[in-house]
Amino acid sequence: MSKSYKIAAIPGDGIGREVVPEGMRVIEAAARRHGFSVAWQEFDWSCERYARTGRMMPDDGMATLAKFDSIYLGAVGYPGVPDHVSLWGLLIPIRRGFRQYINLRPVRLLAGIDSPLKNRKPGEIDFYVVRENNEGEYSEIGGRLYKGTELEMAMQQAVFTKTGTDRVMRYAFALAMKRKKHVSSATKSNGIIHSMPFWDERFAAIAKEYPDVKADQYHIDILTAHFVRHPDWFDVVVGSNLFGDILSDLGPAVVGSIGIAPGGNINPERECPSMFEPVHGSAPDIAGKGVANPIGQIWSGAMMLDHLGEHEAAAAIERAIERVLAGAGPRTPDLGGNAGTKDLGQAILDALG
Ligand code: NAI
Ligand code: MG
Repeated sequence: MSKSYKIAAIPGDGIGREVVPEGMRVIEAAARRHGFSVAWQEFDWSCERYARTGRMMPDDGMATLAKFDSIYLGAVGYPGVPDHVSLWGLLIPIRRGFRQYINLRPVRLLAGIDSPLKNRKPGEIDFYVVRENNEGEYSEIGGRLYKGTELEMAMQQAVFTKTGTDRVMRYAFALAMKRKKHVSSATKSNGIIHSMPFWDERFAAIAKEYPDVKADQYHIDILTAHFVRHPDWFDVVVGSNLFGDILSDLGPAVVGSIGIAPGGNINPERECPSMFEPVHGSAPDIAGKGVANPIGQIWSGAMMLDHLGEHEAAAAIERAIERVLAGAGPRTPDLGGNAGTKDLGQAILDALG
């Protein structure tokens, strides 16, 4: 009996529905070639469902997902439904409920992609952003007072726990041990005087556990400048929920299209399913036209297989993506071509060999 994985597919909204099917067929082909199979179950959880039922997912949604080995998500969000509804109604409950406290996003300049930075060659930019995904600045603690009056006020509390901070930093250092042995921390301990000095203290303490790894830190403002001017400096960059969110969009932007950037929401202990999704959103401006770049979704599928232990299948998908981009194959408009989503998906399928 070959191994079979149960995967929950949530295409979501907009181009999520166009790129998830491409990811699914590439994953299936890789599975066939590497001797395992995938049992999919698709869920229509989305803003469209919210408009119909008032809920992004059903009440027992988390219990349903808990039975799967992994979750493969497209994107959620659509005009007409406020973004905080789609985020707090689906993505954040899954990330927190399943303790997916690592948001992992590779940033790699691939051959055949024009970086918006001058004179950058493939190989020069190759790092990971490790974003804390469960606490920090994205907290529900706070409130509004005196609404509608001159005294109106809003307060929002950031939350940094030792457990939450240490575990994301250990993950970053362990990842660096398998790579170039260098971790950079995003901080702002000059301006934010309680949580960020704590973050720095914990970074220094965890760095001591990994004496072979070079550890440095930058304030977030200059760090964004270094991402643009010196992206070759970085190996693993660790940041809080907010700083990591910003850096993990900036990273993909300096290596080309947001359409190719993959991501994983990971529960490293594997007590709960992890969730893999591209960095981009539902792109309402191009949705329905069949021109979205499916590579971010397909690459996220490779990250999912890698997490499930199917390292060879994952590497084969990454090689197929690299081969298609480096060659003369079809390109979607964001990469300067005029091919459609399905053409690019098919080319990657063919390149799997
Ligand atoms: P977005 O990533 O959807 O789009 C930004 C720009 O990049 C657009 O011009 C879009 O056409 C382009 N783009 C994105 N993905 C592409 C692809 N695969 N191929 C070619 N071009 C691509 O971000 P935006 O516009 O800020 O958000 C749109 C909606 O998506 C919002 O409702 C937002 O809340 C949601 N969103 C959802 C995310 C998720 O589900 N994880 C992440 C980010 C945004
Ligand atoms: Mg973001």
